[in-house]
Formats: sequence, C-alpha cells, structure tokens
Amino acid sequence: MLKLAVLISGGGSNLQALIDACAAPDFPGKIVLVISNKPEAYGLQRAAAANILTSVVDHRDFAERKAFEVEMDRQLHELDVGLICLAGFMRVLTPWFVKRWQGRLINIHPSLLPAYPGVDIHKRVLAAGEKQSGCTVHYVVDDVDAGPIIIQQSVPVLPGDDESKLAARVLVVEHQIYPQAVRMIAEGKAWFI
Ligand code: GRF
Repeated sequence: MLKLAVLISGGGSNLQALIDACAAPDFPGKIVLVISNKPEAYGLQRAAAANILTSVVDHRDFAERKAFEVEMDRQLHELDVGLICLAGFMRVLTPWFVKRWQGRLINIHPSLLPAYPGVDIHKRVLAAGEKQSGCTVHYVVDDVDAGPIIIQQSVPVLPGDDESKLAARVLVVEHQIYPQAVRMIAEGKAWFI
C-alpha cells in the first residue's frame, strides 16, 4: 500500500478525488497526511471529514523557504510517505526539496504540457483560439511544470467557453487522471529515477 501525502493550498477538489479513489477497496494507495500552507484552505476540511491527518505548515511562519520545506520534509519522513501529490499547492519548491523527493513527487496541471505552463492557463488557451485543452500529471523537476509526463487527457474547447466553463471541464478530467496516475505509480507502471 503506497503511503500518500497530498499538499494543497486551496479548495482541494483534486484532493477529494484522491480521497474518493482511496476509498475503493482495491486502490493501492492510502493518504496518510494532508499538508496545507494556508490555514484557511477548504481542502483541510475535506481531509478532516475523511479522518485523514492534516497539518498546516504556513510559509509565513518561516524566515526562509528552505526552513519551510525542512519542516514539511520532517513531517513527510516521520510518516514514511512514499509519494507526494501536489494538488493546487501554490508554492514553488526549491531544488533541495525536489531532489530529496525526486521520483516520489508529482503534480497536476490544467493544460496539455508542455503547452501552457505557469498561471492563467485557461485565459491563455482561449486567447490563442485553441481547439483543445486538457490536463497533465507529471513528475516534479526543478523547472516549473516540466518533468516527465505520467498521464494526460484532452478536452475540447467549445464555442462560447469562458475561463470558468473551460476550467470546470478540465477539472472533471483532472479528477479522473490524478487517481489513475497514483495507481500507475503504486503498481510500478510509471517511474522516474
Ligand atoms: C487544479 O486546476 C490543478 O490542476 C491546479 O490547481 C487547481 C487546484 O484545484 N494545479 P483544487 O484545489 O484541486 O480544486
């Protein structure tokens, strides 16, 4: 059983998808910890409702980014976490943290990477007149929204779409592919050394 930690900063709908997936008896992973850098993140309530251990590691309590990460790293090791899932975690991790967890650190991004890394994705996709968008689960490397891709899924961009309509359509498939990526890793079907 792969021990998962999910790192969040906000609503945590992807966290919820992982919680729901883990509830299936044959799912090869279990969430042992949810860390938020924001005390008000709604995802913390989702975790608590599922009886999952939560922790707030507020980056504002630390003088340096490294110290913030050292504390998260300590908690993750204490629980013997095997895979960290970033799910709307809005802090860029330093090369120190990324290296320590390389191959055991994944992220979900709402575009078909390598297209549209960064922020304001749906706005940029619409402005470019793209006919399709989608989402990607990938291993985390030093460069933001880079790293080997584990799974992607596309969705159409439809006439009349605005940012929120497109975001909602992408989110539906995010919730499908994130648990699939975790399953692939847990079953040894995806790896990155
Ligand atoms: C998702 O769109 C995810 O791809 C991006 O941040 C958003 C998080 O949403 N990294 P939620 O907190 O999981 O609802």
